Amino acid sequence: MKISVIGLGYVGLVTAAVLSDQGHNINGVDVDENKIRMLEEGRMPIYEPGLDNLIEKNRDHISFNTDYSNVGESDLVFVCVPTPDGENGIDLKYVMAACSSIRDCNQQATVVIKSTVTPGTAAKVRSATGLTVVSNPEFLREGYAIEDSVNASRIVVGSHDQGKARLVADLWSFTKAPEVVTNNENAELIKYASNAFLAVKISFINEMANLCETIPGADVNIVAEGMGFDDRIGNRFLKAGIGFGGSCFPKDTRAIVADATSRGVDLSIIKKAISVNDTRITHVLDRVGKRIGGFNNKKIAVLGASFKENTDDLRFSKSWELIEELKKSQAEITVYDPVVRNLEGVRVANTIEEAVSDSDVVMVATEWEMFREADLSKARYLIDLRGILDNGVADLKVGVYDQSA
Ligand code: NAD
Ligand code: UGA
Repeated sequence: MKISVIGLGYVGLVTAAVLSDQGHNINGVDVDENKIRMLEEGRMPIYEPGLDNLIEKNRDHISFNTDYSNVGESDLVFVCVPTPDGENGIDLKYVMAACSSIRDCNQQATVVIKSTVTPGTAAKVRSATGLTVVSNPEFLREGYAIEDSVNASRIVVGSHDQGKARLVADLWSFTKAPEVVTNNENAELIKYASNAFLAVKISFINEMANLCETIPGADVNIVAEGMGFDDRIGNRFLKAGIGFGGSCFPKDTRAIVADATSRGVDLSIIKKAISVNDTRITHVLDRVGKRIGGFNNKKIAVLGASFKENTDDLRFSKSWELIEELKKSQAEITVYDPVVRNLEGVRVANTIEEAVSDSDVVMVATEWEMFREADLSKARYLIDLRGILDNGVADLKVGVYDQSA
């Protein structure tokens, strides 16, 4: 098929790469000229493992453009543009602008919305443009995006036009994932309900961590392990830490709460998950600060700046929020991140060794595998904010190791 992909970020570039690898001809469009220049030169504008090789392999049938002129020839047009927070919930201006540009090129186009949009958005696009609209929400995680796209957990497709819904579901049939073919509204809601549920799971375990701190002998990691063996609960997304960040959970939980409020519905559980998450950093820093005698005049190495492992994405990063909070003390802060070097207002180390060599305190703030394997034994205090280390010298239950003993 001839497929256009509008918006070449984490979702759009991965969609373009994965569909090109299935033999489709891809026309990638982005309004960011710098991004298109980089892609034309064979450079990746984002860090996503395996993406460069997949695009290189299929280069002869992917093109990158800043204008919509080739969109007219496409069988399907995927919309993968941002849907950030707006004044009263989601801001749909990028989606509406992209769809109206598509309509200007091709009044018969079938628009496939991959961006995460609140229920009723597909209907709104349809009534504004007259185009056929298919909702095909994306469930990939950054850092594992290609793997998640190719081995999708499920394919969700919704439309008022069941023929087009079937066409899009068939496009993804190579994933062999279970399909849910439904209407636009259900497809839109499945995406929010899924993200919100995972966010609630994380806030739930973070509240359990608060409880464990008050009970001598209790360790939230062991509690989570014991819960996770029950397959009705599952062991994933039960890692206590400094909270959920990133470009999705924070904005998506806020968007669905705002959407529900506008319909007179109070999503109180999701609201609580947001507020637990919002106070997580101050809570954790307060506890750690008390344990190590405050942060003033300490040399602190923070490992990891992005919102999670295997990504360069700093959007709504909890690690970065932690660094900003630490900067309010008189601490001397050095940050090491495996892929992000361009960080303002802090000393940036080029290696883990350089970051930790002269530090009183080492804080593991992101779940990179390499932090698990690094020699972090020199600092007096090792603070495991993500529960990934197991060095057996914990003198506090959750993550604070005094290595002076
Ligand atoms: P991103 O910010 O990385 O990329 C979006 C791209 O769209 C940018 O390059 C921007 O220049 C481009 N753009 C904006 N307006 C445009 C227009 N009118 N025409 C052409 N290009 C335009 O965003 P992302 O992280 O890929 O997320 C995109 C959408 O997918 C969001 O709705 C997000 O919630 C959803 N989503 C993201 C992920 C993820 O892991 N990042 C996963 C699932 C769903
Ligand atoms: C998340 C979802 O996992 C994807 O399914 C979804 O497609 C995507 O949002 C989206 O809609 O954009 P992502 O934001 O890439 O993916 O990252 P996650 O792996 O879900 O992690 C999100 C945040 O939760 C990170 O800050 C991570 O550190 C934190 N987290 C995750 C925990 O604190 N504990 C956990 O057990 C898991």
